[in-house]
Amino acid sequence: MAIPHDKIEEIRNIANIVEIVGEYIPLKKIGKNYVGLCPFHNETSPSFTVSEEKQIFHCFGCGIGGNVFHFLMRYRQCSFREAVEEVANRYGLSLPKTKMTPKEEEAYHLKKDILTINEQAARFYHQYLTEEKDAERAREYLRARGIGRDTISDYMLGYAPSRWDALTQFLQRKGVSTALAIQGGLLIEREDGGVYDRFRDRIIFPIFDPRDRVIAFGGRVLGDGLPKYINSPETPVYQKGFCLYGVNVAKVWSQKEGKVILVEGYFDLLSLHARGIRYAVASLGTALTPAQVRLLKRLSPHIILIYDGDAAGKKAAKRSIPLFLKEDILVDIALLPEGQDPDSFISQVGKEGFLNLLSQAKPLIDWYLASGEEETRDNFERRYQFLQEASNVIFQFKNPFKKSHYIGKLCQLFHVDQALIQDLHKNSRDISLGSDLLAAFLNSLTPDERFQLKTIRYLFSYPQMVHEFARENAFKEIVHPLFRQLLDLICEIYERKNELSLSELLLNTQEDIIKSLITKWAIETSPFKLEDGYEILRAIKQKRLKRERQKILTKIKDAEERKDFSEVLELLKEEKRLIKQTEAV
Ligand code: CTP
Ligand code: MN
Repeated sequence: MAIPHDKIEEIRNIANIVEIVGEYIPLKKIGKNYVGLCPFHNETSPSFTVSEEKQIFHCFGCGIGGNVFHFLMRYRQCSFREAVEEVANRYGLSLPKTKMTPKEEEAYHLKKDILTINEQAARFYHQYLTEEKDAERAREYLRARGIGRDTISDYMLGYAPSRWDALTQFLQRKGVSTALAIQGGLLIEREDGGVYDRFRDRIIFPIFDPRDRVIAFGGRVLGDGLPKYINSPETPVYQKGFCLYGVNVAKVWSQKEGKVILVEGYFDLLSLHARGIRYAVASLGTALTPAQVRLLKRLSPHIILIYDGDAAGKKAAKRSIPLFLKEDILVDIALLPEGQDPDSFISQVGKEGFLNLLSQAKPLIDWYLASGEEETRDNFERRYQFLQEASNVIFQFKNPFKKSHYIGKLCQLFHVDQALIQDLHKNSRDISLGSDLLAAFLNSLTPDERFQLKTIRYLFSYPQMVHEFARENAFKEIVHPLFRQLLDLICEIYERKNELSLSELLLNTQEDIIKSLITKWAIETSPFKLEDGYEILRAIKQKRLKRERQKILTKIKDAEERKDFSEVLELLKEEKRLIKQTEAV
């Protein structure tokens, strides 16, 4: 059984979103709303908005929005139920002890089953690598790259043989459902319904979560073939950007060593391990995400980033700064010589050489300020821009001592006084680095879909007009599946409650984009007046007539080709009627 609806409403009513969000990120009151730095994307000036009055949040930078439960689900990576429980506990409310809903139960079992298959597959690949004769090439490849038996066993490395059905057959023998293996990303379905192995003739890297469960796989070709790496797709147990490769090993060693190293690639990590540096994790080639930063923080409070010393590496390092500031953690950076990665570097200089590089690591912020100063010496405009950017970065320190320390440092480096830094910060625009989910979605819409959205936006402001719109058959125009869904929900809630309850809307929405639209609309002032509805209805009628006319024109062309002139005449009359109608709208 699910948590009863009115229980959820009761909890939501007692909870205050400002209090709860405020526990995780600092909020400042501006006008009616509260704002802060968005925890879901990388930004340096706040676009994350919380409305106390409406009990919702919306980030105007990345588009994410929802109610207090949606915030917790996203921030803590938990289920809806867990979010409701957390809020209930906080306010001393109790939840009836209930079982999972059939849907939750199904999702839970699906995850469990996929994890089991992953475990079996990982063992299969590992055993193949270590025991089979035709894995000799793979063993030789690893040997040549300096990866020995301990590393192979610690990370459970494997080999996927060069056949289309090696894993398929293995799983079938084990009686595993093919459909599940497809959902888990291990097998791929052919058009004719058959299946084949996703990973073939590759070194296999099982990706573990902190609880030692295999959530995904990576695979590398043995030579120079392309693609060099393939990875599992996103599955019910694997979301990209939420894991780090190697946490299963690093969680033990980083505690002992009191630090954790972040590298980029599979082999960077393996190569360090093979030489006795076992407290590294890898981000797997994607830009660092807030979730990964939280994972790092759990491994150790002392984080060392290793980046390539080339322009791309430096850029990646800079992009990560706001993420670490937000979590208020100490992080050091060590830059490799240009063109090297940790694997090639340690192969060249050995363990001692690598430890030497680590010992030269500097606090990320110090490096950022010093290199910004150095790089902009000969360009006044860029120097000014950098100063502006840097002041924004520094103002993100929560710790007042750190903040003041770095303001001092910036003044010293650039020979400017504190007033300027304060000013620059105040006048800064958003240099948000994240991507905007909502903007990307809106950009992808066709003009007609935009019109559909406009119609719904209007009805969101004036739900009392739904009857009028329904009478005019206006809803037939809403064909975009997401918009259709939203419209149906708006109508349903309005019918039932005689008002458009924001909380009902959000609680009944699963789609992120829809949540995002709803929270944005709820916080901004409506772009419409009541009477704009008639304008929209007029436009809808015109669209409809235009389409009918288009149909008639095609028919006319067709009749002309058939030389059926009486038909043409009839059709022309009809077209004229349509034109008149259009003018009259
Ligand atoms: N990556 C990936 N898919 C690709 C390319 C890269 O998933 N097509 C990820 C892998 O995790 C890889 C990391 O990005 O380890 C870094 O990529 P790259 O520097 O190209 O590879 P290396 O790790 O240096 O691999 P190798 O040393 O084996 O050449
Ligand atoms: Mn490499």
